[in-house]
Amino acid sequence: MSRASSIAYPNIALVKYWGKRDEALILPAAGSLSLTVDDLATITTVEVTDRPGEDIFLLNGRAASASATERTSAFLDVIRTQLGDDRAAVVSSTNAGPTGAGMASSASGFAALASAAAGAYGLSLDQRALSRLARRGSGSACRSVVGGLAVWHAGNELESFAEPVPGPDLRLVPVIVSGRPKAVSSRRAMRLSRDTSPFYPAWVSSTEETLRQMIDACAAGDIERIGQLTESHALRMHAVIASSTPPVRYLSPASLTVLDAVQELRAGGLTAWATADAGPNVCVLTTPGDAGQVAQAMAGLAVADPAEGAPGPVRILGPGPGAHLIPDPVELTRGAS
Ligand code: DP6
Repeated sequence: MSRASSIAYPNIALVKYWGKRDEALILPAAGSLSLTVDDLATITTVEVTDRPGEDIFLLNGRAASASATERTSAFLDVIRTQLGDDRAAVVSSTNAGPTGAGMASSASGFAALASAAAGAYGLSLDQRALSRLARRGSGSACRSVVGGLAVWHAGNELESFAEPVPGPDLRLVPVIVSGRPKAVSSRRAMRLSRDTSPFYPAWVSSTEETLRQMIDACAAGDIERIGQLTESHALRMHAVIASSTPPVRYLSPASLTVLDAVQELRAGGLTAWATADAGPNVCVLTTPGDAGQVAQAMAGLAVADPAEGAPGPVRILGPGPGAHLIPDPVELTRGAS
């Protein structure tokens, strides 16, 4: 039996990926750009058994749902087909952040799974090839293979991977307003936007333009411009999502309260710009110098547990490393083998 463990961190997109050109290969309609962060990691161990059969997937110490297990198996099949290896695997994964709540758990999840599964099945890959592989699990996962700022090229199957881009030192302050899994998965909502929103073509073409502007702003170290582009691109994405049939709305009243508070911080002279993925939680983009004050201002708006409604701790996230192998966290997987 062979086994390998990896860690990967979520990434928050400053230029969002929303829409696929090819669903089977997970090729995006447009490029995107993100910051891989240094907290809320996923740690995954893959143990290859000695025979074919059903894979087992443990998520946060418990048997995962049938659909999550199916998605994991489909991903492992990409590796198994490539290698002509039909052995089943036991996968054990733990998320430090909320799962399926729009805090990029699928990005860290599939980046960690790609890295650990490649290691366990004996597939040796450079960073680009690992990024391409992670993309097959979840599009945004290809960016978590890369540390810090990463651009994911649209391109064809071979060209569609993430790679590092130069830029300034940024901080993100996640404001968790809900830990509940989202009602509509991003995969489904993305398809709805593509198939039904009259604004979708403009979204795709303007995203290519925003990406060029963002790469220039990053190269110039122009944090205000990066912030402006980030916030307006996120709001455009939510507008496209809301304009689909049936409409989907991820931002809640609590999210809008955070957006208003961020605008007030800017009016008060701080660097603070908001973004939100497919969920109600908001991330505030800021500088290392302003991050402490931004976090303090956001403390009252975040909840630790939506059932309790109590204010939660607000963290400051910096750039984190790309997915990589780690020594086996034996205590996580003993029950699985
Ligand atoms: C809103 O990567 O989760 O976070 O490729 O279908 O698995 P699939 O989608 P996923 O979508 C992420 C969408 C987003 C924006 C982003 O991260 O760029």
